[in-house]
Amino acid sequence: MQKKILVVDDHPATLKLMTHFLENEGHQVYTALDGFAALEIVGAVTPDIIFMDLIMPKISGDILCKALRNMPNLMDCYIVIISAAVVENEFDVAKIGADACISKGPFAEIIPYLHKVIGESDSGRKPDKQKPILRLEDTFPRRITKELLSQNFHLKTILESMSEGILELYRQRIIYSNAAAAKFLGSATEKLLGVYFADLFNQDMKLRIEAILNSPTERPLEINDNNSFELHGKHLMIRKHQLIGEPSSTIVIIEDVTERKRMESIAAATNLMDNFGYIFLGIRHELANPLNSIKMALTVLKRNLAAYPLETIKEFVDRTLIETSRIEYLLKSLKTFNMYESLQIKKTRLDHFLDNFISLVIEDFENKGIEIKKTEAPDIKWIYTDTRALHQVLLNLMANAADALGNRIDPMIRIHMHEVNDQIEIQVEDNGCGISEEEQENLFKPFFTSKHQGTGLGLVIVKKMLARMNSTIHIKSRQNIGTTVTVSIPTIAPK
Ligand SMILES: Nc1ncnc2c1ncn2[C@@H]1O[C@H](COP(=O)(O)OP(=O)(O)OP(=O)(O)O)[C@@H](O)[C@H]1O
Ligand SMILES: [Mg+2]
Repeated sequence: MQKKILVVDDHPATLKLMTHFLENEGHQVYTALDGFAALEIVGAVTPDIIFMDLIMPKISGDILCKALRNMPNLMDCYIVIISAAVVENEFDVAKIGADACISKGPFAEIIPYLHKVIGESDSGRKPDKQKPILRLEDTFPRRITKELLSQNFHLKTILESMSEGILELYRQRIIYSNAAAAKFLGSATEKLLGVYFADLFNQDMKLRIEAILNSPTERPLEINDNNSFELHGKHLMIRKHQLIGEPSSTIVIIEDVTERKRMESIAAATNLMDNFGYIFLGIRHELANPLNSIKMALTVLKRNLAAYPLETIKEFVDRTLIETSRIEYLLKSLKTFNMYESLQIKKTRLDHFLDNFISLVIEDFENKGIEIKKTEAPDIKWIYTDTRALHQVLLNLMANAADALGNRIDPMIRIHMHEVNDQIEIQVEDNGCGISEEEQENLFKPFFTSKHQGTGLGLVIVKKMLARMNSTIHIKSRQNIGTTVTVSIPTIAPK
């Protein structure tokens, strides 16, 4: 009876001999030089018998055999291993799902065995039957083969004992999975072979996995809290590696990041609680002080209303009004905190911006006796920023500098500009009281202030606004000498 027979062997000469023989016997023959080509053929035709070699590049025969055996259309296919390495390999035919095994030798010598297995295939597969290796008595073990196989076994053992999951895909179907990968994917290794990788995930994830596998770049896909994906109760990170010169095959590495994610989320939650705690404490403190003063003034006033002269009563009322304006100032600062949530970053001419800014503020500072000096920028520079927000930032920095200059006989603020790589640095330098090293550590903490009337929100707001404009702030200070605040703004458009 004519059969469809697939022969898989990396030796073209063997394929030729086999084809010649099998076609003469009246069969229809398909040939494949490696496991990949074999997988392609079985996608299109369903052979009755497959003869395959064991030691082959790309996919070894035992893995190919297991993968083929798991394909629904090949359940009844009779698979025969023909290999010269079975004698060195202490090989178990049934374990890999093969139906027979012939020890390779001169072609004329194996012909009777080919007849035998083709005949046996007529009576169907007998998976439970013992399968001795045919022609084994005429073969002798070779040392080099034994050594290579032992080395191969050694590497396989390493892969199998790794805690990272390793998969090899061919055209996105699994052709190798180590034990860890099978565990992550919740399946037995044999069941994974031949399976379309993305089919193991739900619809949403499937599309994303396919997108990653199809992308030409080697892009890692992190399955984490952000895209809220779990597989069998674990957070996993998946990376793909493309094999050079093998566009159809991909190595996928799966890492269990459950514990790392858990620690990160605990740290983030603690941080958030700390920040909230700190902010609420600050607001309470800032409100409690003026409220207490108001309460005290009003209580004293109430008690002495009849006795106090009008002048004293006016003094008490003024005191409460000053405290009220402190509360107003705090509320205004908190409002600024959220004011620039959505910034509009535009290309801006630095010299025009700065000239305009200085012309608006100079009078105020000169009235306080503070000299403002600006070093000229050599050429026209463009920056990418939101001018309203940058105005607010510089105003806050100048206000801080002015506060620090209180006791100086020669109070001065200098504004410098430098270009460093793709950034313009604007520096606001004062010769004021400076900041102690200890205080420098707290500068960007909400409500940190050394001033009676300060909220300690100025620099927090500045930093927040700058971050939204891809800009940064850096403060250098020496006590009793002065402070230089450097703001770096990009000169190239944001991506
Ligand atoms: N140029 C400077 N020279 C000396 N100290 C400074 C300077 N800039 C900031 N500081 C110190 O940093 C602290 C925090 O500054 P920040 O602008 O955040 O708040 P503030 O000025 O105290 O209050 P607010 O700006 O809300 O009115 C100041 O109280 C001051 O001690
Ligand atoms: Mg300030």
